[in-house]
Amino acid sequence: MNEEAKKKLLRMIPHALYVLTSGANGKTAASTVSWVTQASFQPPLVTVVLKKDSHTWEVVKNAQSFVLNFLGKEQKDTAQKFFKHLETEGNMIGGESFEISPLLKHPLFRKMAGFLECRVVGTVDKGDHAVVVAEVLEAELGTVEGPLLLSSTGWQYGG
Ligand SMILES: Cc1cc2nc3c(=O)[nH]c(=O)nc-3n(C[C@H](O)[C@H](O)[C@H](O)COP(=O)(O)O)c2cc1C
Repeated sequence: MNEEAKKKLLRMIPHALYVLTSGANGKTAASTVSWVTQASFQPPLVTVVLKKDSHTWEVVKNAQSFVLNFLGKEQKDTAQKFFKHLETEGNMIGGESFEISPLLKHPLFRKMAGFLECRVVGTVDKGDHAVVVAEVLEAELGTVEGPLLLSSTGWQYGG
């Protein structure tokens, strides 16, 4: 395999940035993810891809559901906060205040571009990340304009 070509081409796949939140057994997850795509019109499905050694994957596996918070165009600083493991402090996480989502009761951030509430319907667990397929059960627009495109940040996740 031409490693250089593989890396360059995989990094050409366009992505936006999101903060995925979830909670189960008293544990909360909130982390910035980029490997997200729509996967069906009817029912509405999305896939998110989660690092298998992360706290976030552990929590999503237990909860079998999550909220996908869409970052706004100008929220690069917010995205950066959620690259590491964070604990909730009251109604704050990573310095951002959250509310509880109406259906699945996971954290949601009003000051983002919107959120989807998603229930897991299947996973493919063949590599160092797990592909999680989930049905969109609820959706609400937020207060800022999205998306935050990975290509606008200078960061890379892929290759
Ligand atoms: C630009 C960028 C994009 C990322 N995209 C993903 C992703 O799609 N899936 C994922 O599991 N981790 C992704 N990460 C890593 C997570 O943000 C990181 O592992 C997570 O916040 C760790 O927190 P946790 O241990 O609480 O899960 C990305 C990191 C960066 C820098």
